[in-house]
Amino acid sequence: MSFRVLGTGRCLPERAVTNAELERFVDTSDEWIRQRVGVAERRVCTTETAADLAAGAAEAALQMSGVAARELDFILCATITPDDLSPSLACMVQSRIGASCPAMDVSAACSGFVYALETAAAFFARGRVKKVLVIGAERLSRIVDWSDRNTCIIFGDGAGAMVLEEGDNYLASKLTARGCDAVLKIPAFGGASPFWEGGVEKPYIRMNGQETFKFAVGAMVSDLEEVIAAAGLEPEDIAWVIAHQANARIIDAAARKLGIPFGRFAKNIDRYGNTSAASIPILADELCRDGHLKDGDYIALTSFGGGLTSAACVLRWGP
Ligand code: COA
Repeated sequence: MSFRVLGTGRCLPERAVTNAELERFVDTSDEWIRQRVGVAERRVCTTETAADLAAGAAEAALQMSGVAARELDFILCATITPDDLSPSLACMVQSRIGASCPAMDVSAACSGFVYALETAAAFFARGRVKKVLVIGAERLSRIVDWSDRNTCIIFGDGAGAMVLEEGDNYLASKLTARGCDAVLKIPAFGGASPFWEGGVEKPYIRMNGQETFKFAVGAMVSDLEEVIAAAGLEPEDIAWVIAHQANARIIDAAARKLGIPFGRFAKNIDRYGNTSAASIPILADELCRDGHLKDGDYIALTSFGGGLTSAACVLRWGP
């Protein structure tokens, strides 16, 4: 027993920040960002908190699913930018939507949403839960160095969610981790004690773009090949690949190697940038609400990010 997806939801901050606006902060151009990353604008919180976004996405997913918050047996929230380290973002969502079940955050950077799906699958397999809410939510604008053109052009804020119910539609999955802080790192917030003899790093995203790029393409290709085969499918059986939206060129480079038609790689990075753990459920919700996901479709999710981590899975859509 694993699960099936009952419904999806998303919630984005109101404020869209265009590339032209970033030209005021850093030495960049709209043309460069569109060509090298594929982003035209991203959403950035002005008054919204991560809990506002996460709860908004959760409520939309519950409404689509016809599930009441009190029916939930577990809430998992994938995030690296909770408003507070404690309470967890998942606990704040629990209180905001009126649920009473256990709740916890999952930290696996941009791979977090698929890591959280796998965690949910383990609870379903044990027979401990009937309905689970899985959220990916980020307020990355808090941890972006807005004077660093290498990173501030890429990231955005947002949240997406799925409501899962017992079922057999989680067909195959793969998680990886390779501990490494040299390529992608976000130091934790915090000061130093009077006894600490080391330095204190600023809590901003630091990234070696080219190394991240290479890791991302390699991970997407090998993870997808493996999960599609493990699901007993061929690449052409996949109706949609919902890939983490980090850079349009990463998705195109992986698509070229995989033999899945380009048109089946969904993208919304042009409008939202990279929203880390939120990017897959936001895109899934857009595809679902626009009527692109049909019952019986095989959907592949694939993600990669800090850790370094990667995660992919194959789902059958519908009942
Ligand atoms: N605006 C304008 N020019 C820029 C720029 C910017 N924001 N950033 C870099 N450049 C310039 C560089 O200075 C360099 O100029 P030069 O050729 O005169 O030396 C040129 O553009 C190319 O720089 P490079 O660093 O090679 O760019 P790139 O093509 O690798 O793109 C990233 C940089 C960060 C967009 C890209 O490497 C990337 O997206 N990597 C993956 C990041 C990612 O996915 N992170 C999240 C993981 S979850």
